[in-house]
Amino acid sequence: MRKPQDQQLIGESPAFLEVLEHVSRVAPLNRPVLVIGERGTGKELIAARIHYLSGRWDHPFIKMNCAALAESLLETELFGHEAGSFTGATKRRLGRFELADKGSLFLDELSSTSSGVQEKILRVIEYGEFERVGGGESIRTNVRIIGATNEDLPALAEQGKFRADLLDRLAFDVITVPPLRERPDDIMTLAEHFAVKMTGELGMDIFNGFTEQAHDALMNYAWPGNVRELKNVVERAVYRCQDGDQPISEIIFDPFESPWRPGAESTTKTPESATLPDKPYDLKQSIQDEEIRRLKDALEQCRFNQKKTAEFLGMTYHQLRGYLRKYDLTESVSQ
Ligand SMILES: Nc1ncnc2c1ncn2[C@@H]1O[C@H](COP(=O)(O)OP(=O)(O)O)[C@@H](O)[C@H]1O
Ligand SMILES: [Mg+2]
Repeated sequence: MRKPQDQQLIGESPAFLEVLEHVSRVAPLNRPVLVIGERGTGKELIAARIHYLSGRWDHPFIKMNCAALAESLLETELFGHEAGSFTGATKRRLGRFELADKGSLFLDELSSTSSGVQEKILRVIEYGEFERVGGGESIRTNVRIIGATNEDLPALAEQGKFRADLLDRLAFDVITVPPLRERPDDIMTLAEHFAVKMTGELGMDIFNGFTEQAHDALMNYAWPGNVRELKNVVERAVYRCQDGDQPISEIIFDPFESPWRPGAESTTKTPESATLPDKPYDLKQSIQDEEIRRLKDALEQCRFNQKKTAEFLGMTYHQLRGYLRKYDLTESVSQ
């Protein structure tokens, strides 16, 4: 398995470079860090970088996805258990807080932990100690916590869904990773990086680049799944490209897209092929309906960013505004 420090963090947009600088500044400090960002923005890679740039680099970097397990299992995973603490616990088992001693513990999807687990985490941060499940002995550990989430933790704390005291301690410093659509300069750099790697993996000679159309498609997409999604889309495009001597021309964002997809209504999915109704109908109205539907779809795909939507639809910003006013859709977009 590749170690995380072998995985490069690629990007050169000003927003991304700022994040890297922030990471370098906070890494040497012996304090918890929170990494916030949408799914697929690279939070785990950033956490690894914090660890390997810290004085703890030659001690363990242990990870735990807190959303993956039910509460009681998560508790034993994190804090370990004594023999006989529950049915099936025949041997003592060390938890990740013990395994990460002198190193760092990456707690991914931190917002999904229960209040009880949060309380125990807080105690480790404040006093460096905890008890194994089913045990009375206090275990000492020296762990730096790097937490990650794509949720708004202060809002959750206000609603009583996340412990405010833990949030205070974790939020010593917060690194917020911008979504990919907010750093368009990184899109092609990352796309080329993943394409070259995939070309090599498939044993193909060289990567011939993207056609202008493919380039525009990549640049105009809103990337809700961020870098993880981009990696998939690019790898799929390289692998599906039949002719190794040609640049990549076809980009498939949604591999599920098909007229035969279960639940898909072929008439709405493929309006081009729709036949005319046999009864007389109002052409103008049906064209308007189609325009509204496409505008709404494009807005959603571009996350209601008007500039992106206009680009996506091949019109100017002012033309788009005109359409939105005409169909009374201005309410649905951010100003
Ligand atoms: N800046 C980047 N450079 C290279 N690869 C990246 C970058 N950001 C994310 N990735 C890749 O994208 C995928 C998702 O990253 P990950 O750190 O797991 O995201 P998150 O934890 O925010 O969901 C991984 O395959 C990772 O290697
Ligand atoms: Mg992740």
